[in-house]
Parts: sequence; structure tokens; C-alpha cells
Amino acid sequence: MCGIFGYLNFLVERDRRFIIDTLIQGMARQEYRGYDSAGLAVDGDTDDETYIIKQAGKVAALKQLNFKQKIDFNKTFISHCGIAHTRWATHGQPSQINCHPHRSDPKNEFVLVHNGIITNFKEIKTLLLKKNYVFESDTDTECVAKLTKYIYDTHTGPPMTFTSLIKAVIKELEGSFSFLFRSSHFPNEIVATRRGSPLLIGVRTAHKLKVDFVDVEFGADKDFLAAKEPSDFLASVGQSVSPTLNRTQSRAFLTEDGLPQPIEFFIASDAAAIIEHTKRVLYLEDNDIAHISEGNLHIHRLRRDEGATSIRSIQTLEIELAEIMKGSFDHFMQKEIYEQPESVVNTMRGRVNFENHKVTLGGLRGFLPIIRRARRIVFIACGTSYHSCLATRPAFEELTEIPTQMDLASDFLDRKTAVFRDDVCVFVSQSGETADTILAMRYCLERGALTVGVTNTVGSSISRESHCGVHINAGPEIGVASTKAYTSQYIALIMMALQLAEDRSSMAARREEIIEGLFRLPDQIKTVLASDSSLQQLASKTLSSEKSLLIMGRGYQNATCLEGALKIKEISYMHSEGILAGELKHGPLALVDENMPVILIMTKDSLYPKVQSALQQVTARKGQPIIICNTGDANLINDYKTIQVPLAVDCLQGLINIIPLQLLSYHLAILHGVDVDFPRNLAKSVTVE
Ligand code: F6R
Repeated sequence: MCGIFGYLNFLVERDRRFIIDTLIQGMARQEYRGYDSAGLAVDGDTDDETYIIKQAGKVAALKQLNFKQKIDFNKTFISHCGIAHTRWATHGQPSQINCHPHRSDPKNEFVLVHNGIITNFKEIKTLLLKKNYVFESDTDTECVAKLTKYIYDTHTGPPMTFTSLIKAVIKELEGSFSFLFRSSHFPNEIVATRRGSPLLIGVRTAHKLKVDFVDVEFGADKDFLAAKEPSDFLASVGQSVSPTLNRTQSRAFLTEDGLPQPIEFFIASDAAAIIEHTKRVLYLEDNDIAHISEGNLHIHRLRRDEGATSIRSIQTLEIELAEIMKGSFDHFMQKEIYEQPESVVNTMRGRVNFENHKVTLGGLRGFLPIIRRARRIVFIACGTSYHSCLATRPAFEELTEIPTQMDLASDFLDRKTAVFRDDVCVFVSQSGETADTILAMRYCLERGALTVGVTNTVGSSISRESHCGVHINAGPEIGVASTKAYTSQYIALIMMALQLAEDRSSMAARREEIIEGLFRLPDQIKTVLASDSSLQQLASKTLSSEKSLLIMGRGYQNATCLEGALKIKEISYMHSEGILAGELKHGPLALVDENMPVILIMTKDSLYPKVQSALQQVTARKGQPIIICNTGDANLINDYKTIQVPLAVDCLQGLINIIPLQLLSYHLAILHGVDVDFPRNLAKSVTVE
């Protein structure tokens, strides 16, 4: 839900062309988070001038704008602060007036970009309207820009620092946010803050960073009251400085020779926008207020709360730029579908020992006894991630014999579900930033349950705030429709069940069978991918002109049906429904006739005979199902249109069966003219409730 990006240079000469290109590239890398409008703000020709450029539509449209005629692109800056935003609309439709950045007034005194939702914006707006503020947009964000000016203008006493001002602003806000603020009152400074939405800061300098962390300054008003004291700047990236240094030096990020250091900062919602500039990053936590000025980064806390740690470590990103590029593929989704033979190996790498049939998940070390003693395991997730929980539930229950409960995060919260100290709650999320899932996790943390995170994003809120967990290591997933994350989540959950069951001798043979099945997976996925052209034909000749598609199966394949239908509806805009075949006769059968397209999943497992009766129920109503079956299944291949897939161990078969459905959805989307990586109304990371 929206991507924000900031760039700030200090003692590094950059022209405006470079700065705008950097901001546009930062937006483009995060466009999967929202793509209904884009905008940026850069320094004008004098300190009190800010240029705002924005418009509805994708980043590419902004890039085409003819603003180059109005702005001198060759003007150079030794220090400059620029901010940018790509939007997924929550308040106010996608339009020019609702695009970010938003401003406090026509002079652009305070300009900001925002990811999240301010839930008390109406109250703030009502107050500001009474004070004669004139609003230009329908957004919640604009209230914050105006509120900033209001607090600044009405403040009495010692002058406010940029940090103390933003502290005062965010104290008034409810909801979720990450913000970047810039102001003509504080030229070349930026304030970045978050509560509930992700934000990280990359640091690029030719010099070696001397420390691996940034100290956090606690205390609500310390910096405000002591703003003029050099000691206020002691806690900064680089080094502690002596109070006897003059103010300029004390604020600078010094080199070994004691000189101010050329440095650049990149601030983003996602590491994908930073990786091409630097791998050295620092993740902000909720209620952190980061202030960057004259090459120094200071982190302050909104208030001295007990839970927050006092340092933010500077970490090294492990993703490579190539991983977030499309390469020879037409779309990220296509690339990610094709990456699966490799991504599933990456999920298992160093964790599954195929020789001694052992599974070791380092992130659960020390927590296994607690999990084994749990009175129940509750799996909580949204969308595709929820389907990965459903898909592995039968194996989890069989291997661990621990009662399991599956919940959609939003519904879990709506029901105010009872949670106990001896519950184990597993939160599955590709991004690790889905608001519903994070809120459900915090709800469980408050009630004393053990929380386990299963995410694809190192440094995400779920991986940081859960007690323990597993990174699925699928590599960056950019396509809005989740594909490789699903198969990797599936494997991560199976690995978790295998490890939990390792002390159960009655399960030894079954564990071995599953682990050997895992070994065969990458090649089996490759076999399915090799049938892509026939799936494309099926999509174009049989399905693309249809209005609706039912996908049926049962047992292990229930989740495959739901996930396949979700893929089809979200990127091809075709109605599709996943149906548990056992429920057919309780209602959905009424939909079936010779005109209703049906895909039936009929791979071989213990429920095969029961799915045969579903097939009869469908054909008796003149339905003409396309059947996903195992290669060479003599009962089916001569009489029906089939999609043949290799036979896997029953609880892993869903990993194979989902691949043709992912490919079908991709081809249907192309045939329907949908921009596959940017389906309408959706965003990759849903950081609002
Ligand atoms: C569908 C899809 C969504 C996500 C859901 C949860 O293709 O991607 O349904 O699975 O929004 O997102 P994460 O896994 O990031 O919590």
C-alpha cells in the first residue's frame, strides 16, 4: 500500500537530473506496492522553494511528463533532500489532487509523503477547517501536512527543531503510517517516522562506517529543550563526538581525519528500492523518529517506552539487484513462476539433510519443546499465505498430532478469538508487513502466546516482533500475485511439521517418505513448467472467452483449488471459485451444466475414489471438466481433456498441482489484456487494515 522513497546527499555534488532520476527509480522499484499515482518533491532554486511534481497514473507516466522545460535539470546541489511516493488509494480516488506529496500551504512550507491510514483524520480536519485551513485533496494525508504547519505556527517558547515538531505532530495521530517530511524551514533535512508501516534507511559513503549501530535517544522532550547543546548530537551514526567540538563538527559524520564526510541516504518502504545504491541499511521501529541533517542520522523515540531497544543495528542486505529485475521474462509474475525449481531449493537449503532425513530450522531452535507441548497451534494469515497454511494442515496434524486451527487474520481479530499462554500462534506472511497479520500477532503477544513468524522478508515487522520463526528464502517477490512465496511457505510449514515430529518413532517412515518427496520436487516442478505452451493453448482456445471457472478438489487439494481460483480472479479478472468437492452436492452442483467450465483436481491419493464420484456428479450434469491428473492416468487420459502432472507424495502433490493453475492464470491475464504485475485495485503489501 504505497511506496515512499527519500534521497538526501551531503557533501556529494549531484545535479537535479540525477536527483529526480534517483527518486523516479526509487518509486519504480516499489510500484508493486501501489501504482495509481506517483509524485515527488525536490528543492527549488532557493532554500525556501520546493517543486512538487505529481500526477495520476503509473511512475512511467510521471517520467514522461514534460516538467523538464520548467526546471533547470543541470542545477547542482552539494546537499539536497528529495521525497517521492507511489500510491495505492485508500482515501480519495486516484487523481491529480489526491497524489502525494501533500503540502501544508501554497508556499510548500511542509511537504510530506505517507504510507498508511490516519484513522482520526476527520477530527484533525474539522479542527483545521475551523482555523481556516483550505484543503486541496480528499486524503487523510493532507491533514498531517496542515497539522504540521499549524503546530509550527502556533508554537511558543524556544524554537522547535524539525524532530521536536514532528514528534508533536505524530503524537496527535491515530492509525498506521510511515512518513517522510521535508520543509523550507529546515532545508536539506529530512524526518522519517513510522508506526505500523515499514521504513528503512540505506547509507552510502565511500568511507567505512565506524559503528554497526545507531544509538536511540529516549525521552519525549530532551532534544527539544536541549536542541542547542552539542551533547544533543552525541548519538549519531559515525561516532560519538566531544561536546567541545563546534556545532558544525559535532553534527557532521566525521572521517578518520576529523573531516565531514560525503554521504548519501536512501529511505524507502522496501529494500528493493535501496539495494542498487547500498547494502548498508537500518530498519526503523514503530515510533522511531529519524532525523537526517548535515550528514548525520539521529534516531529519537516518541516516548520513553519500556519495550523499545536503544540501538538500531546497521545491517547488510543480502538480496542482489539481479533478483529484483525481470531479466528475459515479460513480467515479474512469469519470472517468479519459473524461478520455483530454484526457490524451493533455497527454502530447503542447509535445512533438510536428504541423507540422514533430518530437518533443522535454526530459527525454531530452543522453542521446539514449547511448540510440542502446545495445547493447539493457530495458523493466522491472509490470502495466498492463508492458503499455504490450509494446504499443509493435514500433514501438520498427521505428523505432530497437535490440534490446529486456521484463521484469516482479519476474521481472527474481528472475533476477538480467545488466545491462551499455552497456544502457539504461527503468522505466515510473504511481506511480513500485512497489517491484519501484524495486528493479530500483537494481539497474541499481549495474551502471552508463543508467536512464530514465517516470512520472506528479513527485517520485516513480523520477523522482528515474533518470538521465533522461519524465513522462507524464496527471494524477492515483486509480482502482485504471489506464486513462488506460496510454494516456499508450503515447504517451510512442511519442514516445521517434520522437525516437530522428529522425536516420534511412529512417524519415522512417513518422515523419510516426505523428505525423499521433497528431494524430487524441483525436477517435478520443471516438468510441469515444460508444459507451459499447452497450458497457453488451453487458456486461449478453451477458457479465455468464459465468464467463470470452477476449480474442484478435496483433501490436500482443497487449498490448491482456493489458491488457483484466487490467482485467476486477481490477475485475469475472471470470476473463479475454488470448491471443496465434498461440498458439491450441498449446493455448488447447481452451477454445473454443459456451459460451466470446470477444472477438477484428481491426482492420486487416498481420496481419489471420492473425487471420482465428484467427476460423475459433474458429468451427469453434462459438465465437461478439464482434469488435473497424474501422468498417464489410464482412467482419465483417453476420455477427458487433461493436464498431466508428475506424481508426488500426497501431502506434497499440491506443490505440483498449483503450477499449471499459476500458468493458466498468467496466460488468461495476458489474453484479457491485464497488466499482469499491476492488477487493478490491488497492491503487493497490504499495510492497512
Ligand atoms: C495473492 C496475494 C495476497 C497475499 C496477501 C497476504 O496473490 O498475494 O493474497 O497473499 O495479501 O500478503 P502477505 O503474504 O505479504 O502477508
